[in-house]
Amino acid sequence: MVEAKRPRLCVLGSGKGSNYLAINEAIETGVLHAEIVLVLSDVQNSGILQHAQRLGHKALYLYPGPKRTVLDKAQELQYVDVIKQSAADLVILAGFMRVLKSGFLREFPNRVLNIHPSLLPNFRGLRAWEQALKAGVNETGCTVHVVTEELDAGPIVLQATVPVLPDDTAESLHARIQKQEHNIYPKAIEMYWKQLNQAAEPNRCD
Ligand code: GRF
Repeated sequence: MVEAKRPRLCVLGSGKGSNYLAINEAIETGVLHAEIVLVLSDVQNSGILQHAQRLGHKALYLYPGPKRTVLDKAQELQYVDVIKQSAADLVILAGFMRVLKSGFLREFPNRVLNIHPSLLPNFRGLRAWEQALKAGVNETGCTVHVVTEELDAGPIVLQATVPVLPDDTAESLHARIQKQEHNIYPKAIEMYWKQLNQAAEPNRCD
């Protein structure tokens, strides 16, 4: 069998970039066989961009347009163009705080992954750890899923569970979830890329 090529990753983020760091570390330690070819952010000077510059990855801020939660049509085209130029195989959302619409997703079918801080389908949307605390559940977690047009509803790749403790605050619970995010996101990328390649392999009977 021919060894699958290492996927080229474009990582998109708006925040502190701890998932990006975990993915990078997994690559450096040989846990994840992949290459980060571009880090894109809609927030100037975001933590993720600063980390990417320090680590020598190509790091770009791209103006997202005037809307707070989505990209405008023109900006969507720019994001698509820049990602295509990078020849990325997978688009990895790591705290990218905008909803990507069909115009974007059509360009990268089944190639966009996201990490969400809950056990989907529970607690979709923003600040999912706070939703979990308010709901009084005794466990929650995180989910890596394929991004589809419906928010936080695409096929699940991998999940991890964490307990909700009686004295948890939003911060302590989020920190516990993030620790698991850092653990499962690299594994999920590795698994998902293998699945994509196996699905693409022709059946043989020789
Ligand atoms: C994570 O909690 C992730 O679940 C959510 O955004 C956060 C990103 O954190 N989608 P970081 O920027 O990777 O530290």
